Amino acid sequence: MNKSYLLGVYKKEGPLFIKGKGSFLWDEEGNKYLDLFPGWGVSILGHTHSRIVKVISEQAKKLIHLPNNLKHRYQELLAGELVKRSYKAKVFFANSGTEAVETAIKFSRLYGKGERFEIITMKNSFHGRTFASLSATGQKKYKAPFRPLLPKFREAKFNDFESLKKNFNKKTVGVIIELIQGEGGINVAESDYIKDLYNFCKENDLLLIIDEIQTGLGRTGKWFCYQRYGIKPDIILLSKGLGAGFPISAVLIREDIAGIMKPGLHASTFGGNPLATRIALEVLKVIEEEKILLNVKKMSEYLFGRLFGFKEKFKAIKKIEGMGLMVGVKLKKESYPFFLSALRKRLIINATHKNVLRIMPALNVKKEEIDLGLKILEEVFKELC
Ligand SMILES: Cc1ncc(COP(=O)(O)O)c(C=O)c1O
Repeated sequence: MNKSYLLGVYKKEGPLFIKGKGSFLWDEEGNKYLDLFPGWGVSILGHTHSRIVKVISEQAKKLIHLPNNLKHRYQELLAGELVKRSYKAKVFFANSGTEAVETAIKFSRLYGKGERFEIITMKNSFHGRTFASLSATGQKKYKAPFRPLLPKFREAKFNDFESLKKNFNKKTVGVIIELIQGEGGINVAESDYIKDLYNFCKENDLLLIIDEIQTGLGRTGKWFCYQRYGIKPDIILLSKGLGAGFPISAVLIREDIAGIMKPGLHASTFGGNPLATRIALEVLKVIEEEKILLNVKKMSEYLFGRLFGFKEKFKAIKKIEGMGLMVGVKLKKESYPFFLSALRKRLIINATHKNVLRIMPALNVKKEEIDLGLKILEEVFKELC
């Protein structure tokens, strides 16, 4: 391509894509690509799901935007449906993951009443790119160029309860954690660790903030990943899959503590608009009616089983880790060349954290699509190993 007018923050690869359907994308020359990482974990129903396309066009004709001092039907309905699937909470809508994180951090400040304000975060975590969420992120490479950041975050080692305790003091107000670190290279939180962490939060009146921006909405075979751990968070953060491609995020704050957020303390101009909330409602319905959670369980077993077979075959694979359809293939080599080779062979996956290949297919992915993806991936491994 000739000169680009875009700010150079993204490394872009491959052709110009012009359309998508289900787990496939097409480029401008008509070539078909299998997308096993649709929308960076966003397009959980695949591309252009017919029911999502239908509600977008119906709602766009009726009402797209309404300011938050006026009422429409879909915010309340969506909040109710989210609460029904999780715990008694009050819901705030925004537009992106980082805004959800910012909301939780601001809420923590209120909760701490100026006496407690430190938040324990995890090494290798990722919570977003705006200043508070970046400050909460446990990865130096994203933070270093922007220092000084927001203070009062302490990084504990993930899956290490002693490290959590060491970072606690009388100023600590909460803990923010991803149950499966996504951008950090697919690291799954251990069950005992989370139980200890949960009890510790309860004993010390710490807000337990679970960042479900990547793990929520069926990704792990349950509505929310925390439900796999037998815990009850104080706050969960949702985004990515919630609009299945349309920008929306939600913060669910335990009902009995949510009242400290008063009118005027927080807001979002676009947050919870009729179009976004109507789409998200339809996403929840589709997940239910198309038995997507069951599909995640079945396809997860199948995909992990096949990948364990790959591990036997290719010595370059160090470990397969993940849950549901959030899968990391950890390599002994750099993963980016694997991503590039797969792209040349018309398979889209993701390379993250230097040596991890991340596979996060649409939650309605079919067995034959996984087979096709693994056939291409095998060719990639044969080429590079
Ligand atoms: C766990 C987690 N939290 C927060 C974010 C930030 O979301 P956004 O890019 O929508 O601001 C991401 C994005 O990848 C994420 O994976």
